[in-house]
Amino acid sequence: MTDINKSQHGEWSSRMAFIMAATGSAVGLGNIWKFPYITGENGGGAFVLVYLLCVLLIGIPIMMAEIMLGRRGRKNPVSTLVTLAKEAAADSKWRYLGGAGILAGFLILSYYSVIAGWATAYILKAFTGSFSGVDATATKAIFDDFIASPMRLIFWHTLFLLATMLIVARGIYDGLEKAVRFMIPALFGVMLLLLAYSMTTSGYFQGLKFLFYPDFSKLNGNSILIAMGQAFFSLGIGMGSVMIYGAYLPKNISIANSSIIIAIADTLFALLAGLVIFPLVFSYGLQPNLGAGLIFETLPIAFGNMPGGWLFGLLFFIMLVFAALSSSIALIEPAVTWLIECKNMSREQACIRSGLTVWVLGFGSVFSFNSWSGFKIFGNTFFELIDYLTANLMLPIGSLAIALFAGWVIKQQHSEQELAIPDQQHYKIWQFLIKYVAPAAVFLVFLDVIGVL
Ligand code: PHE
Repeated sequence: MTDINKSQHGEWSSRMAFIMAATGSAVGLGNIWKFPYITGENGGGAFVLVYLLCVLLIGIPIMMAEIMLGRRGRKNPVSTLVTLAKEAAADSKWRYLGGAGILAGFLILSYYSVIAGWATAYILKAFTGSFSGVDATATKAIFDDFIASPMRLIFWHTLFLLATMLIVARGIYDGLEKAVRFMIPALFGVMLLLLAYSMTTSGYFQGLKFLFYPDFSKLNGNSILIAMGQAFFSLGIGMGSVMIYGAYLPKNISIANSSIIIAIADTLFALLAGLVIFPLVFSYGLQPNLGAGLIFETLPIAFGNMPGGWLFGLLFFIMLVFAALSSSIALIEPAVTWLIECKNMSREQACIRSGLTVWVLGFGSVFSFNSWSGFKIFGNTFFELIDYLTANLMLPIGSLAIALFAGWVIKQQHSEQELAIPDQQHYKIWQFLIKYVAPAAVFLVFLDVIGVL
């Protein structure tokens, strides 16, 4: 007989295995590609401050809640919510929260895979010495030329997604776990080296100031929402993938400690990326608000001009692709487990179905950078629209619902038991944050955006 307290897909072998996998899911393009470019677009320091506050006060408590729900439910997000709603004698409509999360994962992966495709292509560029001695004009020309071709972007998108789906098809354990264990620390190492280079450039202090000096006049309702959405996106919460990882978590592992470690690692990567990129931006006369191409237009300058740069460039893009892979499998895992558990598919079938859907959706993002770049919906390209819809609406709403469910719906006795925080005072702090602070914050930010505040 199967043990009902365990997920049918297995369990993490140790606390370290869980932390590495969850950190792998958290650390990805969100930290290294997205954080710098949206910080650049939203004026720097004040935006970063809001982001950090969101991670600390809303992100960590919600991450704990989501892992907790996953571990208690032990299934895909939809079934987990059905089980837990039943246990709490609540409405089974909570399952739609799981469904919305699965959809968000699909949508995010559709463009995530396109951008990860760029990073994959840049491995080759680094290897063939394309960045040797380049300046800002040259990196822009390389990037513009690259994204102009839909076929090329489709090729790299296909390759990356294929790799993702092959890993997912093999199951969570043998998948990426081993590679990520070594890639994440190695990526950190290369980024430290890049930081050392950035520190030698003339714009270092200007970059530092841009990142950390808060100019509140640069903030508005929308940029606060983007900062909050980024906190959720970067931690990977609000869409069920942390829930799924929680479902594989053995009972004796502390959810609170693990969440804090994951959040610290995630935040460090984002700040480090900012510390590397902005000095380059100012040293080479670029603008911080270059948009989605920011890291592809700045980092190659460093690789092209530092000693041994081609090798570090090569390593950097390889590791970035691994970091993206460990996030993309987390994005698709909720959908795959749902198809297996609720639609009776084999893992392979589930991967083929979901992979193909994401692949086709991704074309919309591919064309956003070339053939359809002039085609705007509410002033946004298809890519920008999907990004806004997911990061700034679906993840905050999903996170809000998780907070409400964990704080108000399930019995206090159950959350206490599941979180097993030794110090009652600490449990109370979590409870306060999840019941009041997180929901109120998300709600107020929404009110602000629609202009009610
Ligand atoms: N956190 C990942 C990143 O920053 C993206 C992600 C979002 C992964 C949501 C899982 C769930 O790149």
